[in-house]
Amino acid sequence: MLPKLIKYILAETPQSQEVEISGWVKTKRDMKNLVFVEVNDGSCFAGIQCTFDRGAGLDAQTEGVLVSLTTGASVKINGKLVASPASGQAVEVAASALHVLGEAPAENTSGKTPELNVQAYPLQKKRHSFEFLREIAHLRPRTNTFGAVARLRSRMAFAIHRYFQERDFHYLHTPVITAGDCEGAGAMFQVTTLDLNAVAKNGIDYSKDFFGKKTYLTVSGQLEAETYATAISRVYTFGPTFRAENSNTVRHLAEFWMVEPEIAFAQLDDDMALAEDFLKYIFNAALNECADELKFFDAYIEKGIIENLRQVANAKFAHITYTDAVKELEKAAANNKGLFEFQPRWGCDLQSEHEKFLTEKVAGGPVIVTDYPKEIKAFYMKMNDDNKTVRAMDVLVPRLGEIIGGSQREDDLEKLTCRMKEMGLKPEDYSWYLDLRRYGTVPHAGFGLGFERLIQYVTGMANIRDVIPYPRAVGQAEF
Ligand code: 4AD
Ligand code: MG
Repeated sequence: MLPKLIKYILAETPQSQEVEISGWVKTKRDMKNLVFVEVNDGSCFAGIQCTFDRGAGLDAQTEGVLVSLTTGASVKINGKLVASPASGQAVEVAASALHVLGEAPAENTSGKTPELNVQAYPLQKKRHSFEFLREIAHLRPRTNTFGAVARLRSRMAFAIHRYFQERDFHYLHTPVITAGDCEGAGAMFQVTTLDLNAVAKNGIDYSKDFFGKKTYLTVSGQLEAETYATAISRVYTFGPTFRAENSNTVRHLAEFWMVEPEIAFAQLDDDMALAEDFLKYIFNAALNECADELKFFDAYIEKGIIENLRQVANAKFAHITYTDAVKELEKAAANNKGLFEFQPRWGCDLQSEHEKFLTEKVAGGPVIVTDYPKEIKAFYMKMNDDNKTVRAMDVLVPRLGEIIGGSQREDDLEKLTCRMKEMGLKPEDYSWYLDLRRYGTVPHAGFGLGFERLIQYVTGMANIRDVIPYPRAVGQAEF
């Protein structure tokens, strides 16, 4: 039988009932007659205090183990659950037996052979920098911060599924390996079984590669999601996505998780309404289902984040067209020469600094920017009547900038093929995709939410590498 988790034991009424605690030692304080051992199992922030009373007589074996017990060791402790005389905790364990399952030495120790040497446990009781913890990403979930991120991330994923499942969206599994570049940004990881040494000598013949052609890790499940949305009406994907962008920033990963709903019989307005409703639902889920974690993030990571999420969950998102947004940016730049590193100009993509200015200073909250120039957006977006802008929408949020990117899709066969050719894509490579416009085409739309950006926003964690267990970025694929 699995052990009872500490979070449940902490909630019990103390009646001197027998309990067994399984976890890792956070701290030990040895005070003459009393030894206090705090044990945590990651089920919640709090550890449970286990008190060993020498006055009540401890057997020699327990005494021996207790003396050498160190932070990080895994233990099983038996005792009685009693009311705690100390402030800050309702219950504690009057401990009688202690078993160490695995030690975690506080100093370097040498074993019989070099492989058995063990370095001192790196997570001693002090604050460690996130940079240091990234180097020991396999141990960082044992810290308060990373334990909290892990629990919150899991609950957010569940809330996302719940949101869509309760609204008749079907969870679609799109392929990880694909032959197409959905976003047209050319930032793809190639997948091959070719012998690269042989290739270097003889040249490349992709017909001999595993799939008989060039293939990549997917940058988005959208195109396949469109095929199912135009069959079963509402779908969403939630899976890993890969981008070989050479951008070393606090909001980009080479491997990230994306949530992509796709809806049939829908236009841009429906898409924006869905994005807003969805985000608010998720923020409320965080507030209601991760209250302890948010209290922690509010106290130690980003002051005021709870109030901020509450406000955003109740506010109407602002809307602005790209053209008006650029006017605002130009106006601000004219008034303050050093404001931006990149000068805003119609036709250029919005930089992160522009996005932050729009959401923080112009809108004072989340803002949806619409109708971007066609040149800076993907081929599949629906053309506006002006023939210059497309029915795109990006949701920008304070502290982060873009959290969602979406659009209404071009559903007209002629316009779509024309746009593809303009962008240097071969329509025959996307024949299956164009079939959706040949047979029973409908207005449809969708968006993509970067799951890690969402977790960053909800926790206030500054670096995206700290909200995914094992970050992959340029030059970084450890663990
Ligand atoms: O704006 P993007 O590139 O849009 C798409 O991929 C569309 N196919 C979505 C759709 O309409 N179905 O990416 C969507 C979101 C961004 O807003 C951002 O939150 C996140 O994915 N994202 C990244 N997150 C982390 N690291 C990266 N390198 C990211 N690139 C995009
Ligand atoms: Mg985007």
